[in-house]
Amino acid sequence: MGVTAIEIRGVTKTYRLGDVQVEALKGVDLSIASGEFVAVMGPSGSGKSTLMNILGCLDRPSAGSYRLDGEEIGTLSRDGRAVIRRNKLGFVFQGFNLLPRLSAQENVELPMVYDSTPASVRREKAGKALASVGLAERAHHLPSQLSGGQQQRVAIARAIVNTPSLLLADEPTGNLDSATSDEIMGIFQRLNDVLGITLVVVTHEPDIALFARRVIRFRDGNLVEDHPVAGRRRPPAADGIGA
Ligand SMILES: Nc1ncnc2c1ncn2[C@@H]1O[C@H](COP(=O)(O)OP(=O)(O)OP(=O)(O)O)[C@@H](O)[C@H]1O
Ligand SMILES: [Mg+2]
Repeated sequence: MGVTAIEIRGVTKTYRLGDVQVEALKGVDLSIASGEFVAVMGPSGSGKSTLMNILGCLDRPSAGSYRLDGEEIGTLSRDGRAVIRRNKLGFVFQGFNLLPRLSAQENVELPMVYDSTPASVRREKAGKALASVGLAERAHHLPSQLSGGQQQRVAIARAIVNTPSLLLADEPTGNLDSATSDEIMGIFQRLNDVLGITLVVVTHEPDIALFARRVIRFRDGNLVEDHPVAGRRRPPAADGIGA
C-alpha cells in the first residue's frame, strides 16, 4: 500500500446540547494508506457519521490529532478546512443531494462554478466525469428524470470532477435496491482500482462492505474491529459503465 493518507490519533468528539454531553467518539486511532478502500460499519449512533464529518474536514475533533496527507487538520480555521475540502475531498451522500432544477451536467459542473474554472473546461471535465460513471447519454436529464441509481452516479461524477485524493461516502446505497447498490459499489471499486482514489464508505449492510478492501467497525464511539476483506465481491458486468 501507498503512503499514509489519513492518520488519526486519540480523536474524541463531544457534542454538548444544553446540560447533556454526548461522547460520539471516545479516543479513536486509525491510519488509512493512500489507495485503500475502507468500509465503516457499526450500529446506529456508534459514531460513523461523526468520524466522516471529521475526515471530511466539516467538523473538528474535540481532542486528538487528524493528519491528512501529513497536514494537521484539527487546528485549521474554518477557511483552511474549506480549502482542503475543495482541493482534496469528494463527498457522496445517501440522499444524492443534487439540485433539482439543474441537469446532470450542470450538477456535475457546480463544484467548478465556485472556483472560476472557464465554462469550456467545466463542460469538458463534467462530460468526462459523467462518462466515467456511464451516464454520458443522460447529461441533459434533470434529477427527476433519472432513476435513483443514476442520480447517485451523477452525485459520484460531481464528487470526482475535481479529482479528489479522498472520496467519502456516508451510506451511499441506503436509498437504493440491492442490484443498484451493487452497481454503485462497482463504480467505487473502479475509481479505487483505476484512479487510485482513497475511499471511505459507511454502510449498514455486510454484503455491501464486502466490496471494500478493509472493514472497520464502531461501537459506542470506539473503533472495535479492523480487518481486511476476505472474498471481495465484484459487481455483475454492467453495460454502459466503461473505464
Ligand atoms: N450535532 C450533534 N449534536 C449532538 N449530538 C450529536 C450530533 N451529531 C451526532 N450526535 C450524537 O453522537 C452520537 C453518534 O452519532 P453519529 O451520527 O456519528 O452516529 P452514526 O453511527 O452515524 O449513526 P447512524 O447509523 O444512525 O447514521 C449519537 O449518539 C448522536 O446522537
Ligand atoms: Mg450516520
